[in-house]
Amino acid sequence: MATMESLIGLVNRIQRACTVLGDHGGGGAALPTLWEALPSVAVVGGQSSGKSSVLESIVGRDFLPRGSGIVTRRPLVLQLHKTESGIQEYAEFLHLPKRRFTDFSMVRNEIQDETDRLTGKSKQISPIPIHLSIFSPNVVNLTLIDLPGLTKVAVEGQPESIVHDIETMVRSYVEKPNCIILAITPANQDIATSDSIKLAREVDPSGERTFGVLTKLDLMDKGTNAIEVLEGRSYRLQHPWVGIVNRSQADINKNVDMIFARRKEREFFATSAEYGHLASKMGSEYLAKLLSKHLESVIRARLPDITSLINKTIDELEAELNHLGRSVAADAGAQLYTILELCRAFDRIFKEHLEGGRPGGAR
Ligand code: GDP
Ligand code: NA
Ligand code: MG
Repeated sequence: MATMESLIGLVNRIQRACTVLGDHGGGGAALPTLWEALPSVAVVGGQSSGKSSVLESIVGRDFLPRGSGIVTRRPLVLQLHKTESGIQEYAEFLHLPKRRFTDFSMVRNEIQDETDRLTGKSKQISPIPIHLSIFSPNVVNLTLIDLPGLTKVAVEGQPESIVHDIETMVRSYVEKPNCIILAITPANQDIATSDSIKLAREVDPSGERTFGVLTKLDLMDKGTNAIEVLEGRSYRLQHPWVGIVNRSQADINKNVDMIFARRKEREFFATSAEYGHLASKMGSEYLAKLLSKHLESVIRARLPDITSLINKTIDELEAELNHLGRSVAADAGAQLYTILELCRAFDRIFKEHLEGGRPGGAR
């Protein structure tokens, strides 16, 4: 178990190091393939369906711009890194490498500013992602991607092409076989018209990498409920549907904090006449655990592939660093070296893992 956790942690750090390296190039052919081989979780849904709210609940922190209309206008690639307990939580942007954010409301402002920097103050969107890392003892090692909401019509001031542009952008993430899809549908809308389920069905027909998430259960009309959906009878997926109650806009305006919101959510399910029997499998905390368990099993299944890619990367990086010698640009060289060290650590722990798992196999 502990070994598996450190392997996932290393996978996470390799992914981040590859991101930091970005367009500096180098690292041979294996590096981009390695990045593609690592799983991530993308949040997909219509505008204001609750995507950003669900992400915040998984992280257990308040830091995303939220509200009505198109708030998320660039993809946000969010990497969670589990640190040792006792260390203060902080966040770091790829575009501001020297600055540590400990005040998460400043993170929200920076996301907004950085979005505006590329899109102007208009309601335009941009496919260029913002990269954010959160280091905390309270998170699981996970890469999450917040995406602009799917929409059917352009609003005032937006080009007509925006509907198509958003779908193309979202599709480019969810069509990757290693992308786990969090398909968000608000419970106060008809599931048959859910944009996220429609797209998920196209790119993942067997439903093996799609998690159905039903938000806004508290906003359903009196006398109706979502049991048919939550029990998988309306739309069947391989994974169970998870119902969620996020903070309402009124809660957000009143600055209701995450701990209180989670308690309210737990109470909602525990005391509900309709959902009481499902209470232990509902809510954001359950969703976070479900995802990290799934991610672990995906990585476990891919371990042989990931390991051989990592070994290939080690060979290529060693050759490249040898060849470049001192002439290498300082930043990129250091980054390649970091990736090399992380890959070596992965390989070492993986071998221990194999030997530990094989009784009598260790010398
Ligand atoms: P996004 O556009 O999909 O990222 O959606 P947001 O997370 O920004 O949420 C849009 C609005 O819906 C915000 O005002 C949220 O407070 C509200 N909202 C989201 N989920 C829920 C929920 O489960 N219950 C209630 N009452 N409001 C919600
Ligand atoms: Na929104
Ligand atoms: Mg959003």
